Amino acid sequence: MRQVDTIAELRRQLGVWRLDGARIALVPTMGNLHDGHLRLVDVGRTRADRVVVSVFVNPLQFGPGEDYDRYPRTLDRDRARLTERGADLLFAPAVAEIYPRTLAESTYVEVPGITETLCGASRPGHFRGVATVVTKLFNLVQPDVAVFGEKDYQQLQVIRRLTADLNFPIEIVGVPIVREPDGLAMSSRNGYLTPAERARAPALYRALCEARDAIAAGESDFAALCRRQRERLRQAGFRPDYFEIRRADLAEAAPGDRPLVILAAAWLGRTRLIDNLQVP
Ligand code: PAJ
Repeated sequence: MRQVDTIAELRRQLGVWRLDGARIALVPTMGNLHDGHLRLVDVGRTRADRVVVSVFVNPLQFGPGEDYDRYPRTLDRDRARLTERGADLLFAPAVAEIYPRTLAESTYVEVPGITETLCGASRPGHFRGVATVVTKLFNLVQPDVAVFGEKDYQQLQVIRRLTADLNFPIEIVGVPIVREPDGLAMSSRNGYLTPAERARAPALYRALCEARDAIAAGESDFAALCRRQRERLRQAGFRPDYFEIRRADLAEAAPGDRPLVILAAAWLGRTRLIDNLQVP
């Protein structure tokens, strides 16, 4: 696997592959790769001839006081794991390569309508940062297909929306959440957890499963159910940020609506965890 750090080198390599008629998949990441990320690479390989993985901790999607500075950067290990997994190209640009101007002077992409709620409500500007960097990566790589995880369910909807609105001829593929054996969704942020917090963390997934089972058993008062599950999380030592039941397109859900998605975000100590569960 080759690594390139500049846009010029990236374009040169992609130009060669395109002359060969290769179909190209893009897997955007912020690195510190785990088995969830690597599953996206596997899916990319089934959908394209060449898989490009970007590793870029995007400053624009972190708010003031968030974990940009301490976000884990493990490029050597990431490169080894990607090589082993059969990725073809690693694009690992410096911040100045992606944002040559100050962030305040940079053009950005805003996706209204679905970015104001859930994670967007607690992390103002977060989805603007995601939408902007993903748009730039789409323009740089011009992939045929781009692969994202359902772990970041709202992010995936934002990306589907911007792809449609900006007419990118890119197929967006969503990949189911990869979990630890105890149910905790894999995440680079799990590494922040102390051993005691790590032991409590699966309660987030359990709270989602209980809500799913309650819906399956006929519970139709979603507001009451979500209140109950927020309380469950508090009892398990979390500080819940949100616990909500939405339609699959993230619109407000009425009792008869299907498919649904149950989404939660909660703090465990200094770590903010998110997870979700789809109800077909
Ligand atoms: P990051 O958190 O590194 O995640 C990169 C991709 O991996 C995302 O599409 C995410 O949904 C997916 N992913 C993470 N954990 C997963 C899991 N347990 N199972 C399945 N997929 C998982 O998401 C971002 O980076 C950034 O916002 C990015 C899209 C790269 C823009 O900067």
